[in-house]
Amino acid sequence: MLKIVVCVSGGGTNLQAIIDGVAQGSIVDTKIAKVISNNRGAYALERAGAAGIEAVCVSPKEYEDREAFNRAFMQEIEKTEPDLIVLAGFLVTLPAELIRKYANRIINIHPSLIPSFCGTGYYGLKVHEAALARGVKITGATVHFVDEGMDTGPIIMQKAVAVREDDTPQILQKRVMEEAEWLILPWCINLIAGGKVRVENGRVLLSE
Ligand code: GAR
Repeated sequence: MLKIVVCVSGGGTNLQAIIDGVAQGSIVDTKIAKVISNNRGAYALERAGAAGIEAVCVSPKEYEDREAFNRAFMQEIEKTEPDLIVLAGFLVTLPAELIRKYANRIINIHPSLIPSFCGTGYYGLKVHEAALARGVKITGATVHFVDEGMDTGPIIMQKAVAVREDDTPQILQKRVMEEAEWLILPWCINLIAGGKVRVENGRVLLSE
């Protein structure tokens, strides 16, 4: 059984896709042990509660400095001893110590085809604003392992989504979620639960 902790900051639609995947059996052998939000008002916390999953908030605003927050956040993770940490719209930089400790055991969903529109400052709607401003015809989403860089870890899976001429950032964001994010994030978790994902020389290899 793969024990996962899901970290969220906002609406939690990707969390919902994971909850539904576990409930419907498209994600097998997986238990969502805990949901952690950095934002007390995140709707994702309500989604977790409604699904009967332990949901906690560890907010930087409630600690005197970053170090104290990082310590509290790591303690909250380590209490659960997860096999995998899933960043599902988590907009906080993880402590380097946690990343080192959980090497190749933290995954993130990013709403573009990395290496386009990623790195510092590219999150949420900003990613789609940048894609539209550049005039790309194809965008998409990426699931990758988290390393100490920003969106630089080994790529597990990507899915392309067409951009339309009349798209707004909001419309494009919704299409990327529906056609890519909500599919590939549960899919990757299921592959990891099945032991089908390994990293060799910084690249991901998937087995049948
Ligand atoms: C998603 O689009 C996710 O890809 C993005 O935030 C959104 C969260 O939505 N993540 C990033 O931009 C990370 N750099 P959700 O809370 O409804 O899942």
